[in-house]
Amino acid sequence: MPTSEPDLARLRRAIALAAKGRFRVEPNPVVGCVIDAGGKTVGEAWHDGYGGPHAEARALALAGPAARGATAYVSLEPCGRTGKKTPPCVDALLAAGVARVVYASADATPGEQGRGAERLRAAGVVVEGPVLPDEGAPLLARYERARGRDRPWVVLKWAMSLDGRIAPAAGKGGVLSGERALVEAHEARGRSDAVAVGVGTVLADDPLLTCRLAGGPPDGRPQPLRVVFDSTLRTPPGSRLVLDARNGRVLLACARAEEGRRRALEAAGAEVLEAPGPDGRVDLVAALRALRARGVARLLVEGGSRVHGALLALGLADQVTAVVSPIVLGGESVVPPAVGTGVARVEDATRLEDATWRKVGEDLVLQGYVAG
Ligand SMILES: NC(=O)c1ccc[n+]([C@@H]2O[C@H](COP(=O)([O-])OP(=O)(O)OC[C@H]3O[C@@H](n4cnc5c(N)ncnc54)[C@H](OP(=O)(O)O)[C@@H]3O)[C@@H](O)[C@H]2O)c1
Repeated sequence: MPTSEPDLARLRRAIALAAKGRFRVEPNPVVGCVIDAGGKTVGEAWHDGYGGPHAEARALALAGPAARGATAYVSLEPCGRTGKKTPPCVDALLAAGVARVVYASADATPGEQGRGAERLRAAGVVVEGPVLPDEGAPLLARYERARGRDRPWVVLKWAMSLDGRIAPAAGKGGVLSGERALVEAHEARGRSDAVAVGVGTVLADDPLLTCRLAGGPPDGRPQPLRVVFDSTLRTPPGSRLVLDARNGRVLLACARAEEGRRRALEAAGAEVLEAPGPDGRVDLVAALRALRARGVARLLVEGGSRVHGALLALGLADQVTAVVSPIVLGGESVVPPAVGTGVARVEDATRLEDATWRKVGEDLVLQGYVAG
């Protein structure tokens, strides 16, 4: 059956659904799916969270038995590769008995392109695609840019007051966000492979960095690896993070490990990684490469100012989540969200693209991609 106007309309709907996964699934691609049976939509969904079920699986679950003999419209060619965190979408489509699959864009991943379509055809499914490559492509640009990189997708996250501060004073911590934004913050941890902070934040806030949602991390995911960028291993062996190291993984990335400190921290269950930079600090490029080699594909960085500033200056940040709370901290000691070399002209500022604002409880949450 050739692609018709109703086909294109459903495919465009799948592309629109895919966009709902932006900021939540990277470095995975955003994907939307519509299941149509005899001109009626019986299930539609999108990939809604890193490490969670794919769009096809969610849409098929909604369709139930109505998926048998139906057409699946997918914004991206269904994945056919086994051995991923989630089962291949091709298997789910075949198991559900879908008769036809129409997709907007091909998956250009080397070794992946055409593979899903091939497997579906081999099983007798009618496959058409790529049907709308130009319309699907803009949403895939970030996935394609991140693919094959030797570092994780890096999300910077901070909570700030209305007067642009992330703490009342240097070395002082405290919770700024409202309840609902805090729930989202824990979800973001649970959806990341690792959560990192600088040692300044450990000393000020003594954070645990775990996902503390009632049922644990979403979709049965493991707790994230916890990482501290700590040039000289100043993280106290008595910090909550180190005391909890036996319950979950803690990695201290340092530039130089004094033997006694290393031994004390390792004895407590923390792992020490040496990544010396030329300035005596942690070489963030090398540290991120080491994290990627350990399987960290999505890294959430929760401050503080210096670590955010350094990652931005090095072009190592992909996405920003900023929670703005209706409070004013005032005071003369300013702790801003990012401190570093800065820029002399506004034109040279780091810009966020596709920025969206949402009201979450009393707070405003900004999400955007770092341009570049
Ligand atoms: N509201 C929020 O969302 C939020 C979140 C987090 C933190 N905070 C606040 O932020 C403040 C801490 O910020 P901060 O800037 O003092 O500390 P930070 O960014 O947490 O840690 C900075 C430290 O990281 C270490 N580091 C190692 N390698 C580095 C590199 N390549 N580049 C930069 N730093 C590197 C450095 O210490 P060494 O070189 O000495 O090891 C540096 O001083 C606290 O007041 C905390 O409460 C607020």
